[in-house]
Amino acid sequence: MRRETIAVHAGHHRTHHGETSEALFLTSGFVYETAEQAMARFEGEDAGFVYSRYGNPTVAAFEERLALLEGGERAFATSSGMAAMFAAMIAPLKAGDHLLASRALFGSCHHIITQLLPRYGIATSLVDGKDEDEWRAGIRPNTKMLFCESPSNPCLELVDLKFLSHLAHQSNALLVVDNVFATPSLQAPIALGADVVAYSTTKHIDGQGRCLGGAIITTNQLFEDCYQKFLRNTGPSMSPFNAWVMLKGLETLDLRVHRTCDHAEKLAQFLADHQAVTRMMYPHHPSHPQWDLARQQMSRGGTLVAFELADQQTAFSFLNKLKLISISNNLGDAKSLITHPASTTHAKLPLEEMQQLGIGPGTLRLSVGLEHADDLMDDLDQALSP
Ligand SMILES: Cc1ncc(COP(=O)(O)O)c(C=O)c1O
Repeated sequence: MRRETIAVHAGHHRTHHGETSEALFLTSGFVYETAEQAMARFEGEDAGFVYSRYGNPTVAAFEERLALLEGGERAFATSSGMAAMFAAMIAPLKAGDHLLASRALFGSCHHIITQLLPRYGIATSLVDGKDEDEWRAGIRPNTKMLFCESPSNPCLELVDLKFLSHLAHQSNALLVVDNVFATPSLQAPIALGADVVAYSTTKHIDGQGRCLGGAIITTNQLFEDCYQKFLRNTGPSMSPFNAWVMLKGLETLDLRVHRTCDHAEKLAQFLADHQAVTRMMYPHHPSHPQWDLARQQMSRGGTLVAFELADQQTAFSFLNKLKLISISNNLGDAKSLITHPASTTHAKLPLEEMQQLGIGPGTLRLSVGLEHADDLMDDLDQALSP
């Protein structure tokens, strides 16, 4: 099946009622015809569900559809994006291992890598994700995992995923990619060599700001060797209701992401040309320092645009003048949302790290929505005018 068909049909196993839309199995448990059947289910000899922490028909439909869309073999849906990121990182690692990551990370991933993992004996270090030499130099004999986010939150820096997957495999390490900003519609890390892809499905996959969720996608082998027991026993599972919302979200994901990219491209150009904007960052804009890589690795530039105003006071007064675009740290919504990372999502980072990431007092991150692009442009224009 082609992508559009997978997005609408994969994972849909109709019940005897013949429903058109996927059924929502809002159940925590399952019953068995006989004690022998219960025993066989637990031994894995009888196919079927045993408990929704392990698996649920609605959640399984979402997982099957997402795995196919992503080009992976197996997906597991989690209760939030961070549950997926944490599981993706910790499940394959043990005390004594080393994880190497790009510095430009979402705040909670940064916290896990720099604060939590070292408490459990997993060494970690950060490199400039744009610099191949730093990645190479960062590899240690015990490096078991490379982790990155591309494009990164909030300044939309890229990591060359093909290069990184070669480096990971030469070093006998796994490559785990947080693909939230790129979305499954614009970038396929597994095709570029990644072993594991992790999502916050709270963002574009829901796409309408309703439910939290996450997912990891990998091969059957890695799932069975590294993840299955960890996920079943620690219990970060997605609720069937949220999975139903996400499943329906996948049906329109490509349409929504591509329409939003149309708007983001126009707004990126508008901001690049505006005299009040000192810097604009958008992966498919020629001014982006990694424009060539962006065009190779991502089919379009994405739904987020970052830009700089003179200072924090100018940024705050601009935010407070916006009428249509809302101030919010969420992203990937049908509604356009904007945030000031230095005082919100990245406020806990030490100043030096913030500077290394290019987050200044005037940096803003715009998550473009599905409103008319001209209405968005008018709103930006009136708020940017003195
Ligand atoms: C790049 C990135 N990774 C991970 C997450 C975590 O996702 P969630 O908020 O669903 O836990 C976010 C969300 O805020 C994100 O932007």
